[in-house]
Amino acid sequence: MPFTVPSLPYALDALAPVMSAETLDLHHGKHHQAYVTKLNELVPGSAFEGLSLEEIIRGSFERPGAEAIFNNAGQHWNHNFFWPSLRPDAGGMPGRLESRLKGDFGTIDAFNAEFVKQGLAQFGSGWVWLVQTREGRLAVTKSANAINPLVHDQTPLLGCDVWEHSYYVDYRNRRADYLQAFVDHLVDWDVVASRLPA
Ligand code: FE2
Repeated sequence: MPFTVPSLPYALDALAPVMSAETLDLHHGKHHQAYVTKLNELVPGSAFEGLSLEEIIRGSFERPGAEAIFNNAGQHWNHNFFWPSLRPDAGGMPGRLESRLKGDFGTIDAFNAEFVKQGLAQFGSGWVWLVQTREGRLAVTKSANAINPLVHDQTPLLGCDVWEHSYYVDYRNRRADYLQAFVDHLVDWDVVASRLPA
């Protein structure tokens, strides 16, 4: 079964002006599609044929010769996780998530600031994440290129794409403005809360 790009759960123009239709069209229709097309070329006949996407990611991470499969599988998973994390007119935060964030960051503002700071600190392409660690704490982490929390046995709750293709049309080089708009206006906190382990 070839991998496919999932449909967006909102219209292309639904997130404007925070994230424009042009950005979404390019990002979802061209960039995400390109990772999936490449993955479908690489997997057949490889050691990863027949495995789930998560199994491919864990099995190809830091495996010599499997870099291209890891990068395209990781980016497919990362974008699958990214799209449903967004919604227009993002609303309030469920109490269960709010209390966990306050417990580990002090305040919601402090969490938001840490998320923006780590997203800015990622040198070059990559992602910034909210995760639950193996010890059960919430933490903000960053990763290069296609790497994601699965390979560190962490539970991802939220990921923000800081590849330039995610913000350059709308924000040019102002990654900080993109990250701030992301946490202030774009995150579906209900979805993030639903990812908290029970
Ligand atoms: Fe992306």
